[in-house]
Amino acid sequence: MTGKFYGLGVGPGDPELITMKAINIANKVDVLIAPETVIGKGSIAYDIINRYVENKEKVRFQTYPMTYNTQELGFSWNKNVKEILGILQQNKDVAFVTLGDPMIYSTYIYIMRLIAEMGVMVETVPGITSFCASASRLNIPLAEGNETIVIIPAAYECDNLDDIINQCDNIVMMKPSKNFEKVAKKLEKHNLSTVMIQKCGYDDEKIIRDLKSVDGKNIPYLSMIIAKKKGE
Ligand SMILES: C[S@@+](CC[C@H](N)C(=O)[O-])C[C@H]1O[C@@H](n2cnc3c(N)ncnc32)[C@H](O)[C@@H]1O
Repeated sequence: MTGKFYGLGVGPGDPELITMKAINIANKVDVLIAPETVIGKGSIAYDIINRYVENKEKVRFQTYPMTYNTQELGFSWNKNVKEILGILQQNKDVAFVTLGDPMIYSTYIYIMRLIAEMGVMVETVPGITSFCASASRLNIPLAEGNETIVIIPAAYECDNLDDIINQCDNIVMMKPSKNFEKVAKKLEKHNLSTVMIQKCGYDDEKIIRDLKSVDGKNIPYLSMIIAKKKGE
């Protein structure tokens, strides 16, 4: 008999955009895992839910390096999963907090798989995604009528971007901080209407409607571009 493992989406940053369910579970479980990219740096996801967590002693930080090196990633996932399984085996419930929605580009996905493979019961609580929050913040529909929408992780090499743009009405570019110049050029070439939002819902949020004015070398990690075909 093991405890239950929860994944809690905490939304994109505004603490009022967290579900009651995530807050209730965070306060019910025995241990709350707060993922951080570097030891001692703090956890973006935990910072969002922090104010609602009554017992801070249950919080355990785990380090998940931000890297594409599969060996390094595998090492950190296995180490952290081993620690989580150790807690679950004491019949304690564990929740893992994650930015936005757990099922969109999150480390939680990998951890959840490894834990579920061990026969542990898993429950994932959805969160408001960063792109839904950004579209609402900007009062821009992500899709209407029979329009299509695509979500692209711009940090990767987007070699088929032209094809995607040709086929889609609405484009969400997540993680644009790594590949910005290349992505911006493509979007410009296709004459799309674009807006970048940085740190949506935070006090230092920025909305930039002219991509040419973006300082490509200083784009915060929490940024995205929403692009739409013009006049449609
Ligand atoms: C690892 S993904 C996490 C996505 C998250 N699971 C979701 O549902 O939105 C991180 C990316 O999400 C986007 N993001 C998350 N929060 C954001 C925010 N508050 N403002 C702008 N973009 C955000 C950025 O593109 C960032 O690089």
